[in-house]
Amino acid sequence: MNNPETIAGFRAQAQRNLPREIFDYIEGGADDEICIQTNRRALDEIKLVPRRLTGIPLTRNRHDKSPFLVAPLGLCGTVWPRGDIAIARAAMQENVPYILSTVSNASIEDIARASDGDRWFQLYVVTKEVSFDLIRRAASSDYSTLVITTDVPVNGNRERDIANKFQPANMTWQKKFRLAIEKPLWATRIARGPRIDLANFADEHDDKVVRRLLKRSLDTTLSWDDIRQFRDAWPGKLYLKGLLHRDDILMDCSLGADGVVISNHGGRQLDASISSIDSLKQVDVARNISLLVDSGFRRGSDAIKAKALGADGILLGRPILYGLATSGESGVRAVLKNFRASLDNTLTQIGCNHIAQVTRDHVWMSSSPSDHIFPAIREMEP
Ligand SMILES: Cc1cc2nc3c(=O)[nH]c(=O)nc-3n(C[C@H](O)[C@H](O)[C@H](O)COP(=O)(O)O)c2cc1C
Repeated sequence: MNNPETIAGFRAQAQRNLPREIFDYIEGGADDEICIQTNRRALDEIKLVPRRLTGIPLTRNRHDKSPFLVAPLGLCGTVWPRGDIAIARAAMQENVPYILSTVSNASIEDIARASDGDRWFQLYVVTKEVSFDLIRRAASSDYSTLVITTDVPVNGNRERDIANKFQPANMTWQKKFRLAIEKPLWATRIARGPRIDLANFADEHDDKVVRRLLKRSLDTTLSWDDIRQFRDAWPGKLYLKGLLHRDDILMDCSLGADGVVISNHGGRQLDASISSIDSLKQVDVARNISLLVDSGFRRGSDAIKAKALGADGILLGRPILYGLATSGESGVRAVLKNFRASLDNTLTQIGCNHIAQVTRDHVWMSSSPSDHIFPAIREMEP
């Protein structure tokens, strides 16, 4: 089967291939799923202002370093057998950094054996003890970067998963039977693969940790002091994921972290959250940290908007899973190629040869409604 030509096509194919409750797990957000729309609307409201007649020749190899990264994605084994490995290999082949989730279905060591690409590890802090152990394992397997996710003090209220009683690691045989009837091809593929476990926690003593991770019952006391300790324990680069408030991002700068992933978890946590791109707009600090951003990015033009507003890279979440659900490793590669082609097309249209040439001058943002309201209020004051 040929891969679709568009991300929307991959999404439609994923929906056809997967049982509804697995597709819902990928696609769903918190509460009323307003944040998913907030992310899109905020990106759509930003417009690009092309420069003409720049005389810049188009060269090949326009990307020495990928502006895209694969976001950490839990439970990929429910989408495709050995899904994490398929994604890691696709990312390696496309020269894109890959971030392994704590709640993956392949272990830190499995991924290190399968891919020589740039491997990052995402940490959910269940307990500090477990975290230090995971950090140690990631360091001994030569992961370059640690990403600590900070936006899951409690699981987002994902109503689709609740309604579906989504429990991938603990499926009753009745549930398995029902899903197999619904999507026999998916069921046959998954049945040929390994058991769907949280592979980083294979030890029988890990049962309690696994239960807490599946419920996303993490350490709510996590604080900046803990981050300092993780900083000291981790030899590589360190990013904090899920920061949105300007002061938190500034705190991250002062802590010796290498960067931040501005993210609202793709709208899966706090439904009333600010969009990631709006959060990025408020970071007007002179900074020496790297700013990555995610949530809602679906085209190269979205990436260029983020770049114009100061981002150094963009994480891709759901589109990767649409590719995985469509045709495994080949689908993920096709999705990554699609993003790059879309980026190149937009770059050329705005008169740039390389993403490094994109500046704030390339974006136009209509002033926010408050800009109109506040002067009027001021005028009314005595
Ligand atoms: C199915 C799914 C699983 C996810 N699992 C994790 C995870 O294990 N750790 C994490 O930090 N973020 C996780 N995320 C959030 C992504 O890393 C990323 O922030 C988000 O998907 C970006 O939004 P997008 O899907 O609109 O691109 C997950 C997202 C999805 C859709």
